[in-house]
Amino acid sequence: MPSTFVAKGAEAYETSMGRWSRRLAAPFLDFAGVPPRGRVLDAGCGTGSLTLALADHPGLEAIEAIDFEENFVAALRSRTDDARVRAQQGDVCALPYEDKTFDAVYSLLVLHFVSDANRAAREMHRVLKSGAIAAAAVWSYDGMPSWRLFWDTVRAIEPEASGKGVPSGRRPLTAEGELREVFENAGFTGIAETRLTITMDYASFEDFWLPKVYGQGTFATYFDGLPKARRDRLRDALKAAYLAGGGDDGPRGFESFAFAVRGTA
Ligand SMILES: C[S@@+](CC[C@H](N)C(=O)[O-])C[C@H]1O[C@@H](n2cnc3c(N)ncnc32)[C@H](O)[C@@H]1O
Repeated sequence: MPSTFVAKGAEAYETSMGRWSRRLAAPFLDFAGVPPRGRVLDAGCGTGSLTLALADHPGLEAIEAIDFEENFVAALRSRTDDARVRAQQGDVCALPYEDKTFDAVYSLLVLHFVSDANRAAREMHRVLKSGAIAAAAVWSYDGMPSWRLFWDTVRAIEPEASGKGVPSGRRPLTAEGELREVFENAGFTGIAETRLTITMDYASFEDFWLPKVYGQGTFATYFDGLPKARRDRLRDALKAAYLAGGGDDGPRGFESFAFAVRGTA
């Protein structure tokens, strides 16, 4: 099942998003709950932000992790020697596990990239033991001010860019209630939805800018395609936006939130 996630390299992912998903993993697991023992699955593990947070739970006996991107899976393997962690390449829409295998299944920042999120959620339900918990989270479109700053600036100074890799609006599932509906359709019961907030804090404009343009995701792809003069113009406009119209370069923080749901199989 195709993914709309633009992957470059595991290192680029770490500086662009992995540092924030690591921060989100703790409140996500607080909300989802972790069983005291048993087998759990990280569906769409990326470079392992959530998998490694799960590995901090000593009672768990097996932590399976699966992702589309082979190089992300390899990065996760290189980040741990915990014998309970088993990472493999695979598709969350066709999970390679028997029915009722897991005591909990998690998916952090994945379902809005999956072309058929309903199918992925049905798979999460299938591999869970009866009465066990699944939980998922996706960034809110409105709750990601640092990402919107990029695209809003592009739209302001490059109006002809529309349709050339510039998102025309928000991704599916990134509004309140949409992820809950996917869980309802998959047959989960007792569904709860919440907002999880973290601060994305950058040391300087370079720290904000470089991972996005030379790293991971749709913005880097768009930026790569621009001639130099327009890249420079975009950089200057974004710097002015980051500095919020004045002041010294330095740390800036952006409160960002994700929608999370949990439900029982
Ligand atoms: C934003 S990253 C999140 C990764 C990780 N969960 C984290 O929080 O850092 C989205 C991940 O979803 C994975 N993905 C997208 N579609 C997938 C699919 N159909 N099957 C497996 N993984 C998928 C991508 O490869 C990528 O690693």
